[in-house]
Amino acid sequence: MTLRLDYSNMMISPGGIDEKAWSVAGNQFSAAKSGFEQLRRSGTVGFVDLGGDKALLEQVTGFASRARGKFDDVVILGIGGSALGPIALRTALRPSGWNMLDEKARGGYPRLHVLDNVDPETIAALLDRVRLDRALFIVTSKSGGTAETMAQFLIVHDRIVAAGLDVATHMVFVTDPSQGALRPLAQRLKVPALDIPPNIGGRFSVLTPVGTLPAALIGIDVQALLRGAAEMAKRCESEDMTRNPAGVYAMLQWLADTQLRKSIAVFMPYSDPLRDFAAWFVQLWAESLGKIRSDGISVGSTPIAALGATDQHAQVQLFMEGPADKTVTFVAVKERATDLKIPAGFPDVKELGYLTGHSLAELIDIEQRATAGALARRARPNMTIHLHRVDPENVGELMMFLELATAYAGQLYKVDAFNQPGVELGKQFAYALLGRPGADAAKKEWESLPRSDPRWSV
Ligand code: PA5
Repeated sequence: MTLRLDYSNMMISPGGIDEKAWSVAGNQFSAAKSGFEQLRRSGTVGFVDLGGDKALLEQVTGFASRARGKFDDVVILGIGGSALGPIALRTALRPSGWNMLDEKARGGYPRLHVLDNVDPETIAALLDRVRLDRALFIVTSKSGGTAETMAQFLIVHDRIVAAGLDVATHMVFVTDPSQGALRPLAQRLKVPALDIPPNIGGRFSVLTPVGTLPAALIGIDVQALLRGAAEMAKRCESEDMTRNPAGVYAMLQWLADTQLRKSIAVFMPYSDPLRDFAAWFVQLWAESLGKIRSDGISVGSTPIAALGATDQHAQVQLFMEGPADKTVTFVAVKERATDLKIPAGFPDVKELGYLTGHSLAELIDIEQRATAGALARRARPNMTIHLHRVDPENVGELMMFLELATAYAGQLYKVDAFNQPGVELGKQFAYALLGRPGADAAKKEWESLPRSDPRWSV
């Protein structure tokens, strides 16, 4: 089923995009799209074509079918784009509380854990909990050298060896085909390694084995996921912005930020399965677009994750009456996996009686529409992505839609959406503090920083 973006509430007057700006937006989009298509044609950027990459899919399905029945726990070691995509897929596409279900309820598929941090409490607790001889560790790193992931790898490798288990049976790497430390290590340890294509970076990698391998291992239909993505990529081939949903979304967000000073982009699904999807989107948008342009100007809107209806009792107050510096993107879901009728009871109690006869799916949907309408009434622009249901095909569509929108937005902001130079200095300082060879310059710079001053500390 096809995703639909309703942006009527972005065009409201007052408060929304003015029609004059919109009338020239098509031309601006054409320039942005052709800039992006150049990157795609030259092979610099590859995520758009993942839907049709049969060889990569076979790497995944082959490994997953060989692993079937062998493991109770699959554990991802990875951070950033190597973790957020798999988490989003697990929450969206497996029954709620997957890791707490028993084996039968999981259809014989393993639990899936994602260690996306280096807090020793979490890692120690998980390693104490899983049976190593029934566990598979996926070490995911595009660069094959990220400090957090390498530290996790060393700890887990040590445990596997200490338990007398075969590393090659209990580990698989997902990494660049040639760059980084994991590739040669895979050969040395005879650990199987699946590819992240060289022209796809972390936050755009969910549809590579970064996301599809763990997804396939827990029984998610990855072919449907990729099919949905391919359908969206096809729709977004349109040069006509008004027929290209990712183009429209990028343009609306860019105009709202640069012309209406809406520098905060709230992403608010009304769906628990999409709760972690919002975190995935936040990383995609923030790390891709928050950049210093070549003329020295800092750009990018700040994405914020919210959840409906829960956040109606938290952040929505701010969205309604706080600074008018936000757009809100709702995600509404038409068909839910299940529904509950609200039973009759206490018709004499005003606060309860009117709910009778409705269902929870109806309630959550009405609340989304009511919130969108209320925001529009207060001249707060918002839009709604309508998803037919949260299934692999629709989620694949939604992912490709947002990835393409982010890539187009990069062109509109005139930044490289695919790098992340801003995280480099902090990394270098950490290397210097950890004594990594080659970090001498960073060490010097670190030492020249002002020290913590007791006057400014309580
Ligand atoms: O989006 C990105 O590129 C980053 O967030 C990376 O995913 C993150 O830094 C982890 O990098 P790597 O996969 O190289 O270990």
